[in-house]
Formats: sequence, structure tokens, C-alpha cells
Amino acid sequence: MGGKKKKQDKVKEKNASAKSGKKQDGKKAGKNDAPARYQKTFHLLSQSMTEQLEHGRQVSNLAYEIGRELKLSDEKCRQLIIAGFFHDIGKTELANETEVRQQSMVVEEMNSIRLHPEKGFEILKRHGFEDEICLSVLYHHENCDGSGYPFNLEGSSIPLGACILRVCDVFCALVSSRPYRAAFSPETAIEMMIEEIRYYHVGVFLALQRVLHRESDGKIRLPEISKEVKGVWKTL
Ligand SMILES: [Fe+2]
Repeated sequence: MGGKKKKQDKVKEKNASAKSGKKQDGKKAGKNDAPARYQKTFHLLSQSMTEQLEHGRQVSNLAYEIGRELKLSDEKCRQLIIAGFFHDIGKTELANETEVRQQSMVVEEMNSIRLHPEKGFEILKRHGFEDEICLSVLYHHENCDGSGYPFNLEGSSIPLGACILRVCDVFCALVSSRPYRAAFSPETAIEMMIEEIRYYHVGVFLALQRVLHRESDGKIRLPEISKEVKGVWKTL
């Protein structure tokens, strides 16, 4: 009980912090210094692995397409492009921390990796990104049935942007090869996600399927990177 209350208090604190529109050093984030902030953040992410960067690109583009499919505003779609691109940026700080650990400390490493949404939130907040972007990153590992992390949020308490990132993150990871396994086909990836449908926002999951089925040849595949998405990436 005490643990749940503590998590609820932390959620309130993060939401209030995001809505304050202030950087963590207390200075108001100015709109005209955005390019400088984005460049600094982009530089940080560029230092991480190419695989992670490619994953960020895929999630960014797919999140944008789902936003369009759900008829979200241009502004919300732009925020999804940025949140998708940076959703795992918290791992760049954790990578330095885990380097000094011994290989046998698997449990500690797993606990550490579960901190990356909060680290990502803190990095983006520090660089003055909008609260919708920061909160989508903070909650991108929450599941609709309350089994996710870091706060075990459920259903409608998870922001829509985070629900979109969750679905895109899982699908893009499944259809990409990893050092320890080959890529799953899009069809298999969808079947695997249906088995775990309790984790996902159903409306978002259906929108994902519509986006993947757009091609007239009947095959399901990730959409091409759109010029709108490329345009936003150029500002980062
Ligand atoms: Fe993540």
C-alpha cells in the first residue's frame, strides 16, 4: 500500500514538474533557444549505438503515422516525431553507469535499465522540451493492465502519446534483428502482440494495423519515412 502511494505521489510530482514549463535549474525554457537545445541533445544521442539510433528513427516515423491515422493535430504529430526519436535517450546515461558493473550483476543491470524512462524524462526536461514530449518518454514502458514500469499506471491514466510510443517501440523491436536473434516477420510480430494485447491501448493497436496494411499488395510493412518526419529531424 505504502509503495503504491509513493508511486502515485511521484507521478503527480513528475506531471506538475512537466507542466511548470521550467528547466530543472529553475530557468524558464525560451522558444528561440530551441535549435541549440535540440542540437545538444542530438549530439548526446549520436554517441550511442547505431542500432539504437535506427530504432529511434523507426519509432519516430511510425508514431507520426499512427498520430495521422488517429487524426491528431499537426502539433501532436510533431511531438510524436520528437518523442519517438528520443524515447530511449535515458539509456545513454545508464550505459556509462553499467559499464563499471561486473557481468554477473544481471539483476542490478535489469533494475538499472528500468530507470531509463525517468532518466530520459530528466534529460529532455533539462534541455527544455515540451511537457507532452517529456511525459510520453517517461511513460513509454507503462502497460494498460498496470504491469509496466516505472509507475504501474493503468488504462486512461497513461497519456496517449506514451501509448503510441509503447506500441511502436514493441513492433519496431520485433521486426528488427538483434545480436541474439533474427528479426520476426511483421505478421509474426503482430501475432505476438495480439497475445499480449492487455498491455496495449486497443485504439492505438488498431491504428497500427491500419498503417501497416496501407499498401495495396496486401503485404504488411513499415511505412516509408515521410518528408514531414525528415523535416522535423532536420531541426534536431
Ligand atoms: Fe525504452
